[in-house]
Amino acid sequence: MDDPDLEDAYGLKTPEDSIRLYRDWSESYDEGFAATQGYRLPAAVAEAFAAEGGAGPVLDVGAGTGLLAARLAELGVGPVEAADISPEMLARAEAKGLYRATHVLDLTGPLPLADGLYGGITSSGTFTHGHVGPEALDELLRIAAPGALFALSINAEVYESSGFAEKLAALGEAITDLDLPEVAIYGPGADPAHRGDRALIALFRKA
Ligand SMILES: C[S@@+](CC[C@H](N)C(=O)[O-])C[C@H]1O[C@@H](n2cnc3c(N)ncnc32)[C@H](O)[C@@H]1O
Repeated sequence: MDDPDLEDAYGLKTPEDSIRLYRDWSESYDEGFAATQGYRLPAAVAEAFAAEGGAGPVLDVGAGTGLLAARLAELGVGPVEAADISPEMLARAEAKGLYRATHVLDLTGPLPLADGLYGGITSSGTFTHGHVGPEALDELLRIAAPGALFALSINAEVYESSGFAEKLAALGEAITDLDLPEVAIYGPGADPAHRGDRALIALFRKA
């Protein structure tokens, strides 16, 4: 079978689809996808988190192979834990020694984590076509400490259509300091079909 690619990823529909796709993609994800597409979103999210004064303990959700945590480590931010539905992606991350703990979990349901644990929540590439929608935000807020900083990438094409804009507005006074900088997801050498893809980084604090 050919390695999965972006078209396969954007075509996912259910958490079970994600488990299957990322099982098959874990081995080639870093060199076959991230490097060839100039995938810059994880670094952009990490840099935005650090620039806003983000500090550990951080939970990196949809952590995958750990590209975001690698940049957080360079920026001196930690400790960082990882959460992802794919044990194979997390195994790649664990092998890099970037996380103090990893959690195999489904972000679309209740999370097996206590209230108020984290001083920061980060995510890149997971709030996108066919992956995780705004329903995950309530549980992420529950496990964050008061004042915790969030830096979550949201694919610009799904920001309105999947209800992220509506959800962030509905959170009202539960969050503060919302900012939505827009960034390029890939580098100039990416496939022409996706070279121009953009994401918003939802930066906010839990009240
Ligand atoms: C495009 S990858 C991004 C990985 C990493 N953050 C990065 O930027 O390289 C999306 C990740 O979301 C995870 N994922 C998809 N659906 C999920 C769900 N329902 N719960 C938790 N993780 C999920 C996948 O397993 C995958 O590792």
